[in-house]
Amino acid sequence: MDTIDLFPDTVEIHNGHISHIGGCSLKELASKYGTPLYIYDAVTFAWNYRYLHDLLADTYPGNFDIAYASKAYLSLPFARKLANLETSIDVASISELEIVLKAGIPPCRIHLHGNNKSEAEIHKAIDMQIESIVVDSLDELHFVEEISRKMNRIPAIWLRITPDITVDTHKAVQTGHSASKFGIPVGNGEAEEAIKLGLSSDAVRLTGLHTHLGSQLFDSDRYSEAINILFNLCHKTDWQPEIISPGGGWGVPYTTGSPDTDPSDWIVVISHTVQNCCEKYQIKLPKIIIEPGRWLVAKAGVSIYSVGSTKSLPTGEWIAAVDGGMSDNPRPALYDAHYSAVVIGNSADRPVVPTRLVGRFCESGDELIHQIDLPRLERGDIVAIPVSGAYQLSMSSNYNLADRPCVLWLDNGKVEVMQKREKASQSNWWLGE
Ligand code: LLP
Repeated sequence: MDTIDLFPDTVEIHNGHISHIGGCSLKELASKYGTPLYIYDAVTFAWNYRYLHDLLADTYPGNFDIAYASKAYLSLPFARKLANLETSIDVASISELEIVLKAGIPPCRIHLHGNNKSEAEIHKAIDMQIESIVVDSLDELHFVEEISRKMNRIPAIWLRITPDITVDTHKAVQTGHSASKFGIPVGNGEAEEAIKLGLSSDAVRLTGLHTHLGSQLFDSDRYSEAINILFNLCHKTDWQPEIISPGGGWGVPYTTGSPDTDPSDWIVVISHTVQNCCEKYQIKLPKIIIEPGRWLVAKAGVSIYSVGSTKSLPTGEWIAAVDGGMSDNPRPALYDAHYSAVVIGNSADRPVVPTRLVGRFCESGDELIHQIDLPRLERGDIVAIPVSGAYQLSMSSNYNLADRPCVLWLDNGKVEVMQKREKASQSNWWLGE
């Protein structure tokens, strides 16, 4: 895989270097909107969504839905794009729920996750009659029942099941193992008990089972194992679920060295496993709801920075500091995530040197790329980091009172400012107001 393959599908090369995305010149965008700057390419996002949709349509004869995991990236303008695409959506807080409702996503296409939902969140979900509340523990099942009885309503719920499957990914994003803080464990019998309680409850309507194994995964067999466990539970409880949700988690390559695995593997395994289980237990095909976050949005996004201070180290490395860093992308610090970068503009006359691309924040862990060979960077250079669309802005912070970046939506040469650059020093929160 080439570095260019990591960029959105609309990337253009002029005179041997990357210059345009979404029909717009990156240099011009950086100069007009300033840096750090995040861009999202409409074509790449729409294509990704369509690709997953068509794969499911081609391989699964039953109903299905793609619920975008909004934790990967959400803003009101972006939620409006999702509303136009008619995606479903997974939210994990009252603010995410409020934003997607405001964007016009119908409640029947929203489900609510979380391992510790507040009473206000559950109340709002019930009040808005969203598709389902994904119940995360036996305790929460009773809590939801208590609230729904008070409200005299019967919300639809799914149960999040923890299948005791440890996936190959960073420890911080594994969620299906028996010690996970998420979900109702299969191993101690609680999953079966929760299904029985849900089915006999007069305060909730159990419609489906959910599981989410983790994030940045490339092994589709683990999904098959998990789905088999869900159906086995249904069989043991003599229940025909309306919905089976095997979560999200399919990974993307971040560097040219990462595996480039197509999600068709993932979708085909999900769709075939569900069909095989239904045949085995002689039950009707349920609706499949998948929850991709990263795969839909990561490649559509690019972060763009300006280089400021540079220096050489006694080790021979070249350090280039950019005007963003861990405040807009904490992933290298949190997960030792690796990225790639390119210089925007002509740098053919420069020597290529081992470079450490660091941020501007007050800790040594603030590195975007620990080591990469790049043309020797100088103050004023613009660098672009591909695969920046997921879990960067949504996990961004105001460390050192950084202003969160401006975010653009690029659609075939049209530019829409989705989020203006923040002014942290004018934020009521920091002013104590
Ligand atoms: N469904 C549930 C219940 C989830 O918890 C998640 C992600 C997803 C779906 C979407 O997973 P995806 O398709 O995006 O892998 N901050 C980490 C990733 C955390 C994922 C949290 N849950 C990172 O930057 O790698």
